[in-house]
Amino acid sequence: MAKVANHYFKVEPFRVVEEGFNPKYSLTAEAVFSLGNEYMGTRGYFEEGYSGARLLGSYFNGVYERRTAAAQSYKGIVQETEFMVNAVDWLYFRIYAGEEKLDLAKSDFRDFTRTLDMKTGLLSREFVWKTGSGEIAVKTERLVSMVHNEEAGWRLTVASVDYTGEMTVCAGLDFGTTHGPEKQSLWECVDKKAQEGGCYIKGRTKTTAMEVESFCSLQGSIAQKGNMTSIEEENAAYIQYSFVLEPGEMLDLEKNVYNVTPMSRAGEEKANPAAYLQEMCFEKLYRENSEWWQRTWEKSDIEIMGDAENQQGIRFCIFQMFQTYHGAVRGTNIGAKGLTGEAYNGNAFWDTETYCLPFILFHDREAAKNLLYFRYATLEEARKRAKDLDCEGAFYPIATISGRECCNLWQHASLQLQASTAVAYGIWLYEKITKDTSFTEEYGLVMLIAICRMLAVRGDYNTDKSRYGYYGVMGPDEFQMMVNHNCYTNLMAKFTFCYTLRVIERMKKEASECFAGIAKKEGLSEAECRDWMEKADAMYIPYDGNKKLFQQHEGYFDLPHIDVDAIPVEEFPLYHHWTYDRIYRNDMIKQPDVLMFLFLFNSSFSEEIIKSNYEYYEPRCIHESSLSPSIHSILAAQLHKSKEAFDFFRFATRMDLDNYNRNTEEGLHTTSIAAAWMNIVYGFGGLRSDGDILSLSPSIPESWEGYKFRIVYDEKLLSVEVKKDKVALKTLQGGSIRLSLYKNVVVIDGKERVFEMPS
Ligand code: BGC
Repeated sequence: MAKVANHYFKVEPFRVVEEGFNPKYSLTAEAVFSLGNEYMGTRGYFEEGYSGARLLGSYFNGVYERRTAAAQSYKGIVQETEFMVNAVDWLYFRIYAGEEKLDLAKSDFRDFTRTLDMKTGLLSREFVWKTGSGEIAVKTERLVSMVHNEEAGWRLTVASVDYTGEMTVCAGLDFGTTHGPEKQSLWECVDKKAQEGGCYIKGRTKTTAMEVESFCSLQGSIAQKGNMTSIEEENAAYIQYSFVLEPGEMLDLEKNVYNVTPMSRAGEEKANPAAYLQEMCFEKLYRENSEWWQRTWEKSDIEIMGDAENQQGIRFCIFQMFQTYHGAVRGTNIGAKGLTGEAYNGNAFWDTETYCLPFILFHDREAAKNLLYFRYATLEEARKRAKDLDCEGAFYPIATISGRECCNLWQHASLQLQASTAVAYGIWLYEKITKDTSFTEEYGLVMLIAICRMLAVRGDYNTDKSRYGYYGVMGPDEFQMMVNHNCYTNLMAKFTFCYTLRVIERMKKEASECFAGIAKKEGLSEAECRDWMEKADAMYIPYDGNKKLFQQHEGYFDLPHIDVDAIPVEEFPLYHHWTYDRIYRNDMIKQPDVLMFLFLFNSSFSEEIIKSNYEYYEPRCIHESSLSPSIHSILAAQLHKSKEAFDFFRFATRMDLDNYNRNTEEGLHTTSIAAAWMNIVYGFGGLRSDGDILSLSPSIPESWEGYKFRIVYDEKLLSVEVKKDKVALKTLQGGSIRLSLYKNVVVIDGKERVFEMPS
């Protein structure tokens, strides 16, 4: 793979540190230094204003705008798309020394350090501002609360090194933020107030009429000492403090913020944010966050001994994953870039159920349930989409924020069925890992029925009716368009039919009232179930038994072959260098397709089959998607191809820290972050969760001395420690777990058991 690391940040176990500021790296650093709590997210932008490249990203989950897509009159092509919109700049602040304004693109400064502390979630920045009249040490700190969704805090400290003179500090709330791609503000500021002690502002999106309100209090020695002026501008409300900074003097200003959006939890705090703000202070926020992160790391840390870079990398991934999603808000999803940038429009993809769900499932089942709930909450939209596509049932969108399809590329939005089958997979995986059937019964079955209905009309039998499958589709590999019998699609559809029928049988047997209610409401008949069974039985899975090879789609084996290694590095990314149709007419693949289902249902396939397919498809894959390397690494580890497994793994944990794809500035690769976790736990740890019993088969990369991970399974915390030749297992907070280790069933409890690693 033509990917090269760009080393910029200092390597430390629990911190990401930028020493000295390189403006060329400013947008990338903004994305890396993003803070979030699922409800809101802010990029690490310079809050004092910056005339260099900056994306003032302040986002709220589920807050979006809508635009009309390019005029396309064909039926089924999306006419409107929705995108995450950057909202209030709650960090708004300006600082002047006399007449001189601080702007790191123009001002002189020294000793710049920016630090993200992953143990507390604190982002801080320190530097010495060299003004024309002397030096001032400036420090800013910010936090987004992991405990109370709506809360965030900011603190400024200024200390004179040898500066004496007038200073002006402005701090408040600004709704004049322009959207990156749209290059204009998409908000109407409908209310604002600046008065002693704090500010208030309310914005409304111009098309979707979504409202965001922001409240802030201001306190500290600057507020006490300074002459105060309240300023209300068209889109902003802030307080200006003027004061004289004396030599040796150190002053501070603290801003506590409370942001209310349509996704806010109802409750007292929301009813009276101003009063609630009185209770807030930066130190309290800091303390609460530190405790939250301590509890989280105790449950979820991965330690790597003998590899400082990947140690930092995997902690960054875990940190960002929790910031993006931990089940804090009912009905939110995970955007492909989280809340860290505007690429992919803040849309969520099939990535959620196939890549992110395992991480969440092995840490917090309630959070996992909440994530799946998004698909239930948006089922009506999926039903409408099915109608738009001449189908029945539910067709889940390939890219979405509110449940509506937001992808106006018909090749993807109309041909990819994997978002729908991923929902079925997610419900199944939740049930498999948690053994909790209540979600399936309460919410899952209705979705499963609707997805099966779509699958039963979107597919077709061939002429002699011997085979059922999908014609004119695009599988996960987006380099093969409008193909017939894509193996992944057919296999996932078969799985969906079979699983749904199993759930129906189970619920019938239990004579569940819930089932009777659903069957009646949905008009589910015996004949319909029979039809699904027949279609599942007739589902065509293209497979060459002699070669033990699945064929990615009918006709794939006959496609012209190209040597992907011979493509010059300068031609990547291919989407920018090759015409669209040129990409589609050969056997090159973008990301795992056959290998994807061999990963998802790994326990159902022999190692021999996995090996032959891996060896066939891996050389044809260019990993144009960041979803790709980790899946290859996991399978390579299973096949004892240790060097390959490690080579593919290299990109995973440091994809964004080292900007491997040179596009981190657009936002973090959230799916790749989740895949990095799977890469260690499923790859080197050999965890498999799709069989009858949870199984482990750890191996260790040659260059590591050891590694340790923790998962919550069966409501118990399991610690897995792998050394060069040994594996130590124990439960950490009581209870015992039955699992399979290297194919032997073992029972693990609080007393550590050590096993030899087979050679
Ligand atoms: C991949 C898709 C993925 C999307 C969002 C695309 O490049 O091909 O599989 O869902 O990115 O991550």
